[in-house]
Amino acid sequence: MKIGIIGSGPVGQALSKGFLSEGYEVMLGTRKITKPELVKFHAENAAVAIGNFSDTAQFGEIIVLATGGLVAEEAIKLAGHSNFSGKIVIDTTNPIAKEPPVNGVLKCFTSLDESLMERIQKEIPDAKLVKAFNSVGNALMYRPGFKGGPPSMFICGNDDQAKKKVTSILRSFGWETEDMGKVEAARAIEPLCMLWCIPGFLSNHWAHAFKLLKK
Ligand SMILES: NC(=O)c1ccc[n+]([C@@H]2O[C@H](COP(=O)([O-])OP(=O)(O)OC[C@H]3O[C@@H](n4cnc5c(N)ncnc54)[C@H](OP(=O)(O)O)[C@@H]3O)[C@@H](O)[C@H]2O)c1
Repeated sequence: MKIGIIGSGPVGQALSKGFLSEGYEVMLGTRKITKPELVKFHAENAAVAIGNFSDTAQFGEIIVLATGGLVAEEAIKLAGHSNFSGKIVIDTTNPIAKEPPVNGVLKCFTSLDESLMERIQKEIPDAKLVKAFNSVGNALMYRPGFKGGPPSMFICGNDDQAKKKVTSILRSFGWETEDMGKVEAARAIEPLCMLWCIPGFLSNHWAHAFKLLKK
């Protein structure tokens, strides 16, 4: 299966390597294929194809959205709205504002009554959006390998089949999945990135993940 990753930053690169290890064909999308850090990444990971956003969105049978939250809608425009139609889109983005964190707490440009995922779903209504990978650092996205067992990835989205597919991807990546329901649940899932980052900003501790314990 072909995965098109819109966004060539740390998340795009980490997930490219993960999907490649799981036997998928991967294209990593950027606005500038000559970016030095990307040229280096490609030299070290030649099996990952590099393309512009539009080629990458066309290529992907499943699309991963991994751009900055503030520019996600711009990236979708560049990728071409119709290229998302009917496809599973794994939304890794967070609505992080430009302002610096306050005492380790990131600022968001959305509210608790409207998530970035809802805005994106409105932008590409025919896409089967599934929120995932937003509440952990890129270094832990693939096979995090915690001693306490697989951590929990909170997901949500309107299409049950799409969430089933993403759940099986997450299982192969070393995660348990907690399905929190429809797109509105992103109002609660996106701010988890703020919580996850606090120990990082305050004590430079970035090697943790969430786990939902149940009776
Ligand atoms: N970093 C993490 O560990 C982490 C963890 C969980 C979730 N997230 C979320 O995942 C997303 C990706 O994060 P990241 O750290 O990998 O990278 P990032 O720096 O947030 O985003 C990089 C991507 O955004 C694109 N971009 C920048 N400005 C743009 C514009 N004006 N129009 C269109 N595209 C633009 C870049 O394009 P070019 O390729 O052309 O430069 C690049 O592909 C973010 O929403 C972040 O909050 C990050």
